[in-house]
Amino acid sequence: MPKLQFMGHASFVISDGDNRIAIDPFLTGNPQATITADELDVNAIVLTHGHSDHVGDAISIAKRCNATIVAVFELATYCGQNGAKAHPLHIGGARQFDFGWIKMTPAWHGSCIGDDNHYLGVAAGVLVTVGGKTIYHAGDTGLFGDMKLIGDRHPLDLAIVPIGDNFTMGIDDAAEATRMLHPKKVVPCHYNTFDLIAQNPEEFRTAVGFAAECIIMKSGDEIEV
Ligand code: NI
Ligand code: MN
Repeated sequence: MPKLQFMGHASFVISDGDNRIAIDPFLTGNPQATITADELDVNAIVLTHGHSDHVGDAISIAKRCNATIVAVFELATYCGQNGAKAHPLHIGGARQFDFGWIKMTPAWHGSCIGDDNHYLGVAAGVLVTVGGKTIYHAGDTGLFGDMKLIGDRHPLDLAIVPIGDNFTMGIDDAAEATRMLHPKKVVPCHYNTFDLIAQNPEEFRTAVGFAAECIIMKSGDEIEV
């Protein structure tokens, strides 16, 4: 049974005993982080988009762990140019890796890095299947109707959705996203890291109602998927 660990903000690790896959490992500068980038041990890193609160420490962790970064082509190329091992996918594309099955899905958001907003392709959501369980991380996105298509075509054991508002869905839209995705479990993220995205996750739990089992994770928490 794969496990999901929360590292604060939108950062997670999925592990199935053999493999450890980080999603958006933003630790340095993440006020919610309970571990440092040097302590993270993974063999793959999946990135939803190029913003610094998602790429985070991915490149240094990938180099130290000899882990493969999986991202859309433009972001994967950037990681490769910076010395990391990277595999490009793009929206709609899936691949069975040694460490699990990864598919990139659409997200409505930007993707760039650095003071000059260096463009890194489009933002994405990701589907990860490991140990027979499928997890969807929506990345940073607004609500969109094709979330229903994602949930219909890929029955979700767990969905991770942003609720912070301002840059992404807020609570009401994230609850509607949960109804469209119809996962067994839903985990809110991307809130309370900074003042701009302050939210009460209990309001999200109430808004989700019986649509899914809502699990509010504290940074450092680990659950079975
Ligand atoms: Ni972003
Ligand atoms: Mn973000």
